Amino acid sequence: MLPRPLHYGSLKLVSRYLLSPLAGYTNLPFRRVVHDIGGVGLCTTDLVSAKALLARSRKSLQLIETCPEDSPLSVQIFGSDPGMMRGAAQFLEEYGVASIDINMGCPVKRIVGGGAGSAMMCQQSSTIQLVQQVVEAVKLPVTVKMRLGWDDDNLTAPFFAREFEQVGVVAVAIHGRTREQGFRGSVSRPGIRQVVEAVENIPVIGNGDIRTVEDAQQMFAETGCHGISIGRGALANPWIFKQLVEFETTGHYSPPGNFDERLTLMLKQLQYQIDQIGEDLGIRLFRPMAHWYLKSMRVKSHLRDQYQKARGSDEVQAVLQRIRNAGLTTGDRTGQLPDFHIPVPQGPNANW
Ligand SMILES: Cc1cc2nc3c(=O)[nH]c(=O)nc-3n(C[C@H](O)[C@H](O)[C@H](O)COP(=O)(O)O)c2cc1C
Repeated sequence: MLPRPLHYGSLKLVSRYLLSPLAGYTNLPFRRVVHDIGGVGLCTTDLVSAKALLARSRKSLQLIETCPEDSPLSVQIFGSDPGMMRGAAQFLEEYGVASIDINMGCPVKRIVGGGAGSAMMCQQSSTIQLVQQVVEAVKLPVTVKMRLGWDDDNLTAPFFAREFEQVGVVAVAIHGRTREQGFRGSVSRPGIRQVVEAVENIPVIGNGDIRTVEDAQQMFAETGCHGISIGRGALANPWIFKQLVEFETTGHYSPPGNFDERLTLMLKQLQYQIDQIGEDLGIRLFRPMAHWYLKSMRVKSHLRDQYQKARGSDEVQAVLQRIRNAGLTTGDRTGQLPDFHIPVPQGPNANW
């Protein structure tokens, strides 16, 4: 029997598999290639400052730029000032997005220091009031993404999930780690399960370390969650949403893209990036993304290095041609690539 479709309030999603926000990566070009491949139920933008949105800053407007193929789109906002969060949500409603997500998981010092992100998990009444004000300010579905809590002594996610449901939040996504933990150790599936058990009706989205169809099956089985959101696993394998839907409907799934298919996808995404922001900036901003494409394609390190140093379209195209000709370090360019995992940034998580 197929699982029940996932709803964010009145918004019915085409699958239970969602793209998790990844600052610096979940931009319009990446969301477009993920949609082009298919299987994704909803993509969310990088976190966007409510204050910057209200000031209509160029960067924040770029982060929310969208197109018909990028639908449905959720925009993730952060901030600790209820008035600004309300105002940003109302602006997004007029702008035409499908859903609004409130960031309560970010561990970065700059954001936590202002009382936003995961710091909100330490303030009960002001956080609930802020979320309620955002919900009441718009007709759009509002969701919250959070961690299990600040640390092991303060696992507040079940409490907040229950309270948020009461004030009208339509779904919560849980990264199964604490703020203290950063990205260390493993995701606590029992911790996510406690959130599932704490709510009455709203869907809970399980998140963290899902890299394969098997990981997702385990997440569903051990937590009872209703949907899954995937971040780094989708950077390493943008085909993962398609694989998950295939498995759900047929019991089988196709392999992810091979060397040639990844190169084609990478070129398409680079072109989307250039279309959005022009050639010079597009090429520059695409470098971090290209890093993961080329690593996952097992391109030789000197060619990866040449790509990162290439300036201007002609140089980039010339390096890409060399990469195409050289193929992968070992193996068949149309065969399945070895599994590839994206590590987390080095250093204390407060500095990310
Ligand atoms: C580089 C990077 C950027 C991230 N940016 C955001 C963000 O903007 N908003 C957010 O809620 N979470 C952000 N996250 C957390 C992810 O959405 C996700 O919760 C986390 O990576 C665990 O899921 P994964 O193992 O599938 O990547 C970020 C994570 C990474 C590694």
